[in-house]
Amino acid sequence: MDKFVIRGGNPLLGTIRVSGAKNAALPAMAAALLTDETVVLENIPDVRDIQTERKLLVSLGAEVELGYGRAHHRTSINCRNLNKNPEAAYEIVKTMRASTLVLGPLVARMGVARVSMPGGCAIGARPIDLHIKGLELMGATITQEHGYIEARAERLHGAHIYFDKITVTGTEDIMMAAALAEGDSVLENCAREPEVTDLADLLNKMGAKIEGAGASTIKVRGVSKLRGARHRIIPDRIEAGTFIIAGAISGGDLNVAGCDPSHIQAMLQKLGECGIKLRVGQDTVRVISDGALKAADINTEEYPGFPTDMQAQYMALATQAEGASVITENIFENRFMHALEMARMGANIKIEGRRAIVRGKTPLSAAAVLASDLRASASLVVAALAAEGETIIDRVYHIDRGYEHIEEKLRGVGAQMKRIGEMLPRKVSVPVG
Ligand code: EPZ
Repeated sequence: MDKFVIRGGNPLLGTIRVSGAKNAALPAMAAALLTDETVVLENIPDVRDIQTERKLLVSLGAEVELGYGRAHHRTSINCRNLNKNPEAAYEIVKTMRASTLVLGPLVARMGVARVSMPGGCAIGARPIDLHIKGLELMGATITQEHGYIEARAERLHGAHIYFDKITVTGTEDIMMAAALAEGDSVLENCAREPEVTDLADLLNKMGAKIEGAGASTIKVRGVSKLRGARHRIIPDRIEAGTFIIAGAISGGDLNVAGCDPSHIQAMLQKLGECGIKLRVGQDTVRVISDGALKAADINTEEYPGFPTDMQAQYMALATQAEGASVITENIFENRFMHALEMARMGANIKIEGRRAIVRGKTPLSAAAVLASDLRASASLVVAALAAEGETIIDRVYHIDRGYEHIEEKLRGVGAQMKRIGEMLPRKVSVPVG
């Protein structure tokens, strides 16, 4: 398994570009299942989860072209010839729980779907009961056996659905199913993330009739058929936030380009409270830091609140801030594993249930650390940039799931960082004869 070696102490200087949003690209690719015409998506990030999604769609019978050139990051998907009994297999779903995003589109388009239950993951139980409940309210018959969900419906019908909890992929899954259902649907207590809005924009380009995406109540008028479309995926707000925090913790002057500052307002306001100077442009955020940081508390909330996917990166920053920062994780029940690794680097972090109290400023020293999930690994990269010495981060395949060529991007602005592949055993010459 690949590792990163990072020597801390270099301020990040210059311009770093943000890629397309993984969490917008994944539902958008699943939306192609809703039509027999071709869907073309631009600004697709070159990350492992996209490769996994491609494999999944091909296993369902889709034709998927995926190309990354200098001028384009594009996928072209055609689902004219889907398998009669499409199945999202455990082998694929276990590597990416966002595979459940094919459930709604498949039932809506094919009348049947068999999707492996995703199981838990490092950050929490991650149930999908609200996806299932929404489909049942729309008339699907759901059975669960041998670790698989099977959903069937002659044709889904519109429904009035209230999500008991705000769920991002639950909102996306049900919105896609409702687009092809018979009649009108009203979805309440929806997720308001920009990725939900981006999906609705694509669906409406495909001929869907969706209003209200980005607010808590979404109205969908079902149509009998959807057409192909071309759509550009929004920039990745979590990658942008990660780079902004990297610039701040390194005491640099970093211009994060190709982002959408309107998607990270809560984050920018919080970093301002920490005393970080920010110059916000149309599609750039310049962070100018002398390394002097003040402690500030955060509560992770659903959008537009402070995102849970930025909690780990913020914790790394908080270790370098003067004072105590109280970090409360309200979304997932087990999302502090990065704290244990940062403590090994010298951080002073006390975990009390859903709260982590970070006392700074503590000097961080390089150590061998272990990535546990996508955003935890990003937080260890951020911490390593501020640590004295060479930090080795193992299991960086987690980070490759959602960050495009992160070591090249960070090296391009002065980070001393390299990827080391699996160390092959020294070649032993065996005497022949
Ligand atoms: C999406 O996951 C993101 N993934 C996650 O990003 C992100 O952390 C999360 O939203 C929260 O913002 C994608 O978009 C692919 P949820 P999702 O359903 O949709 C509970 C990353 O790092 N819940 O919004 O799976 C759930 O347990 C990933 O890119 C139910 O109880 O998250 C959690 O407590 C990590 N029943 C809360 O809702 C359900 O049926 C929010 O989860 C669904 C969710």
